[in-house]
Amino acid sequence: MRIVFLGPPGAGKGTQAQRLKDYLGIAHLSTGEMLRDAARAETKLGLEAARHMQAGELVPDEVVVGVVADRLADKDCARGCLFDGFPRTVPQAEALDRMLDRRDMPLDLVLALDVPVGRLVERLLDRGRMDDNRDTIEERFRQYERLTEPLLSYYGRRGILRKIDGEGTPDEVFDRVHQAIELAAS
Ligand code: AP5
Repeated sequence: MRIVFLGPPGAGKGTQAQRLKDYLGIAHLSTGEMLRDAARAETKLGLEAARHMQAGELVPDEVVVGVVADRLADKDCARGCLFDGFPRTVPQAEALDRMLDRRDMPLDLVLALDVPVGRLVERLLDRGRMDDNRDTIEERFRQYERLTEPLLSYYGRRGILRKIDGEGTPDEVFDRVHQAIELAAS
């Protein structure tokens, strides 16, 4: 299966993708993690990405699409992939469609995690990652609303979008994710 996790910062994409990866035994592609790895390694791409991430901005589409294209060529992606934090713009979604079409691997499901913004800010401030300060969080939400939210209509029109209530414990949310997967597979 190929599954996209959509949702605002802190909605639980990474938490749920990790659980679903263990459950389905397929590859987990977190663009946030890949970009943070590149930043830690201080590669040219990583240093450019770090500037955008620290400001709460999205990393340019061509950079992120290049990173995903390289990762998709890895063997473990042939069995299936969970995309966590990608795509995040309509051009990225179009690029993903082209990459998957070329491999004859359709996207099966888009899971959109829904959590009220107030709860998300609390979660992120509690976590305290390098980009989890109030100013950066506000900018990340602005970018989400402007550039990522349009993907709800993009995938809604295709009939592969399922909204998941992201409130409750991680286990409760995973039960809902699990049900959506079972329904899609039946
Ligand atoms: P990324 O790492 O993807 O960050 P994000 O989307 O802002 O998401 P988060 O990791 O903050 O949250 P999440 O939804 O994964 O939630 P999590 O499970 O971690 O991206 C970082 C940056 O990289 C971006 O701002 C951008 O600059 C760049 N980037 C990445 N992808 C890009 C792309 N495609 N295009 C351009 N730029 C890109 O949970 C958050 C916290 O809440 C954790 O502490 C967790 O333990 C807790 N939590 C989770 N679930 C629950 C629950 N049910 N109850 C209570 N706490 C919970």
